[in-house]
Amino acid sequence: MNNQGKTGIPESEINQRVEALLAKMSLDEKIGQLNQVSGADFSPGPKAVDVIRKVGAGSVLWLNDPRRFNELQKIAVEESPSGIPLLFALDVIHGYRTIFPIPLAMAASWDPAVAEQSQAVAAREARAAGLHWTFGPMLDIARDARWGRIVEGAGEDPFLGSAMAAAQVRGFQGDDFADPERVLACAKHFAGYGYSDGGRDYDPVYLSEAQLRNVVFPPFQAAIKAGVATFMSAYMDLNNVPATGNRWLMRDVLRNEWGFDGFIVSDAFAVINLVIQGYARDGREAALRALDAGLNMDMASGAYLDNLAGLVNDGSLTMAQIDEMVRPILALKVRMGLFEHPYVDETLLEKVVARPDHRQAARLAAQRSMVLLRNEGGLLPLSKDIQNVAVIGPLADSMEATEGSWMVFNHKPAAVTVLQGIQAKLPGVSVAYAPGPEIHRDIPHPFGEFDSAEKKPPQTAEEAESAYQTALETARGADLVIMVMGETADMAGEFASRGSLDLPGRQEELLKDIHAMGKTIVLVLLNGRPLSIRWAAENVPAILEAWEPGTEGGNAVADILFGDVNPGGKLPVCFPRNGNHAPLYYARNITHLPESSPRYRSRYWDDLPTPLYPFGFGLSYTTFSIDNLKLSAAQVKVGESLTVTADVTNTGKVAGDEVVQLYIHQKWGRDSRPMRELKGFERVTLQPGEAKTVSFQLGPDELGYWSTHAGAWIQEAAAFDLWVGNDSTATLHAEFAVVG
Ligand code: NOJ
Repeated sequence: MNNQGKTGIPESEINQRVEALLAKMSLDEKIGQLNQVSGADFSPGPKAVDVIRKVGAGSVLWLNDPRRFNELQKIAVEESPSGIPLLFALDVIHGYRTIFPIPLAMAASWDPAVAEQSQAVAAREARAAGLHWTFGPMLDIARDARWGRIVEGAGEDPFLGSAMAAAQVRGFQGDDFADPERVLACAKHFAGYGYSDGGRDYDPVYLSEAQLRNVVFPPFQAAIKAGVATFMSAYMDLNNVPATGNRWLMRDVLRNEWGFDGFIVSDAFAVINLVIQGYARDGREAALRALDAGLNMDMASGAYLDNLAGLVNDGSLTMAQIDEMVRPILALKVRMGLFEHPYVDETLLEKVVARPDHRQAARLAAQRSMVLLRNEGGLLPLSKDIQNVAVIGPLADSMEATEGSWMVFNHKPAAVTVLQGIQAKLPGVSVAYAPGPEIHRDIPHPFGEFDSAEKKPPQTAEEAESAYQTALETARGADLVIMVMGETADMAGEFASRGSLDLPGRQEELLKDIHAMGKTIVLVLLNGRPLSIRWAAENVPAILEAWEPGTEGGNAVADILFGDVNPGGKLPVCFPRNGNHAPLYYARNITHLPESSPRYRSRYWDDLPTPLYPFGFGLSYTTFSIDNLKLSAAQVKVGESLTVTADVTNTGKVAGDEVVQLYIHQKWGRDSRPMRELKGFERVTLQPGEAKTVSFQLGPDELGYWSTHAGAWIQEAAAFDLWVGNDSTATLHAEFAVVG
């Protein structure tokens, strides 16, 4: 019962109130609570206001307007038969008005505290706008960078992903559902969505139970441990059963095994989509199968609204089944004090978003998330005395690309761009700027239709060529060229998978042409997924992965480029040499012909299969040594823990951060195990010459795994390798044994 205690109201009182409500609700009113209705004009089906007035609703989504929230809430409370208030829900993924780095970037901070703080700010702003519930965090482990939604998660690793999951849940929810500065969180998408075939969005997923339990599930379990209020079912087929109709996922695992007592909402239209997916004959069967599988709330599809009453009346479903689905929805509304405080103060938002600490938090998060990929000859940090600098690239002055994908509805971009950040660092210097040709998706993003902002027509071929030439000219006149390249915000996210990971458009060509002029180049990347930047990695002396860094992104980039901040982020995903190498991840199993074998050449005959930059990698303006690796015991019994310590020392001349990472490998067992798995990390800040001892615990949770052979979670007597270092190729090594 993970949610107990997370409110001031005693559990018994909550239950009593829920039962009292249920006792006086008609079937239609109960069904109303099982619906999340769309507040947007674009949705098909009945209007939210009509449904609310008639039978009430569990929740409203796709609306972002405090005044309208209050209007609809008044109808729910005063005019709907049950008078039950509505939960207003929206995707607040990485900030409401103050935008934080995209979640993949937050994971690159390897700093759960900063992720928690960021989502706490997002929650405060969202709540002040009248929202009660966000559809985040997204916890899908993603190992295929072609999949667009890799931008929304914490990357490829379940251990890092779990730490980020718990931190985000704590940030959104705090530790009391009744906290008026927090929102309910939603662990999504349950489960397996990150493994869609070929990285193609929504494509089916085939995953073994071992993969699910060892890799996909841990962040969801961490979210439950952190008290997450709700879950969202995924769209896709998991082993031939759509997640939204998947009884094993929703009942057997989530509720019965893990004891989740909140409620599950479908993804948008996913209930009726069961028909399109060929899993249900019609809407009636879709509703029946989803509810029977344990899905509480239908997001926007109307299938519950249209069919549940008929299903109860003809005996296909019982009232007890309906009550079971309604209960956790009502319980959350009671727990969070929604009945006592259904309305939002419409003047609150502007006061809350004006808080300077929100901007400061966004700048800190952006600084901590950036990863220095290359710095030949210590080109960075740059001197603030430089006079003749050009900033070039299609994203250099783009607020949209700086804020990144997944903005809340009706959000007006307002980020400090990289160009602006650099200009602010160099007062009195005139910074030359040329965007070069625009970059676009080949197939436009479908959400573009909902974007009310006026769009200028795309460049003509002549305009693009002229922009290219202007960029070359601008670079020619400069001593140092800062090139800001990557992907636009709509190139990652939902509906944003790609077959290639190359820099889109003519960006690499421009990079090469300016390089050929003999210019010193610093490349700043703005992107929401790993890109294949091999040419740049071999030719451009300095590369900063800035991701999509949010409102303060441009300032944070400039802080790092000019040395006010020393970068300390690390990659939460491997960067492949080539997009065709996806999926690529470090925690692979060992083959019969391992890389250490003398007969080993390569897994491809035309390329190295290793990443361009490995998981966990990132440079600093200082240097570190990690040594003095010690284990509390060479041998522990099954069920016992051992302590691993190592010393990390700043051996350079400036203060900086290092992320000390611990990896293990179980050498044999009933199942094969990955060649390395992250099992501990800590980000430390050290002054020049300063040393610190970091300490990690390895116990049954870290040393056990879900075994295909045993069909259960087991811990075995076996020998283990262990490495400590600053990326997933760490070489500082020790061994230990677990004995029976
Ligand atoms: C579809 C997306 O898959 C999901 O992540 C999102 O929360 C819902 N739409 C609601 O906008």
